[in-house]
Amino acid sequence: MAAAAFPPLLASAGEQSEVYIPGEAGMIVRSAGFFDLEMPPEFFDSWITPTPHFFVRNHMHEPTTLDRETWRLSVSGEVEKPLHLNLADLEKFQTRTVTNTLECAGNGRGLYQPHVPGVQWQKGAVGTARFSGPRLRDILQRAGLTVSGKHVMFQGLDEVPGKVPPFLRSIPIEKAMDGDTLVATHMNGSALEKHHGFPARALVPGWIGAASCKWLSEIKVLDKEFDGNFMKPGYRMPNHPLKPGEPLNVDDSHVITSLNVKSVIASPTDGSILDSRTFKVRGAAWAGEAEIVKVEISSDGGTSWQAARLHRDEAKYAWRLWSHQVKVPEAGEYTIRARAVDSQGRAQPQEPEWNPSGYLYNAIDQVTIHVRA
Ligand code: MTE
Repeated sequence: MAAAAFPPLLASAGEQSEVYIPGEAGMIVRSAGFFDLEMPPEFFDSWITPTPHFFVRNHMHEPTTLDRETWRLSVSGEVEKPLHLNLADLEKFQTRTVTNTLECAGNGRGLYQPHVPGVQWQKGAVGTARFSGPRLRDILQRAGLTVSGKHVMFQGLDEVPGKVPPFLRSIPIEKAMDGDTLVATHMNGSALEKHHGFPARALVPGWIGAASCKWLSEIKVLDKEFDGNFMKPGYRMPNHPLKPGEPLNVDDSHVITSLNVKSVIASPTDGSILDSRTFKVRGAAWAGEAEIVKVEISSDGGTSWQAARLHRDEAKYAWRLWSHQVKVPEAGEYTIRARAVDSQGRAQPQEPEWNPSGYLYNAIDQVTIHVRA
């Protein structure tokens, strides 16, 4: 798609001042300090998540001033010609649009037993949006990437409180050079909102949200993986499953990259009282870089499973919406379960893989409902 298909960033004064008030638009405020907003289950009904319903995850304070005139993106490190790009320069690159389900690695943390510290996300630190902007590959090629470049590190303009280490992470050069990895300037057809990284963010599709650095100011090509706090010990999974309560051995762990296979039940919501024995169960399922091949529903405690209907809208890195008509034999309490299977043969497990930071929760989802008819 040509760059001209988008409203020019420099001409769109005022867009970035449209900031949501915490809790407005029905979002759950998980932290007001650094501003963390979760989407409640009822908003899983839309293939493209409207931006006001898109979760927000910040580790630090958002930048207080973001000036489109003075903003610059530097590209340095293992390159022949370091660059200093402004927004007009970015607009001259060819624009690509990628529909991506972005999920926080900590989504579902609040569901782990035993409890783990951190933002207590339930189901909704996830959303799907159309992200647009230049390919990172084109920018790196313009800078003359050298053969010693092995990882690409991103830095944002977050305001770092006290002694907290800055939010710095890197991605391997292969993912950086993938034609779907972007320096996104637009989300759902409009310039990025401040909460989502105005004026530009990395978009690393299919990977945990932490890979997609917001308020991008620096792209640095490194000769090896970055090993700062948010790569080590942060955002790592154990190489071998831990017993609940066991600490992570950093030397026996790896950096989290792609998302897990996962489905969530959006409706009926947990605790609903239904007046009919026949009702529709619906939700969303996603699998990072893999595809969803089926979603199955059980209303009898997991004894029998029926395939849900996968809805038509699909894109490589985007969730599939699904639905299934359930008929229960009599009035009473029922637990409805959903499990997804992906093209890599991964299925949602009965039990999540417990880890001390509560990452990548993807156990079979369930809601308990009461049918009174
Ligand atoms: N980028 C910066 N600069 N600072 C951050 O705190 N949070 C990351 C990522 N990019 C973060 C960041 C995390 S953990 C997630 S899940 C996503 O942004 C969330 O993106 P969103 O707020 O647009 O939903």
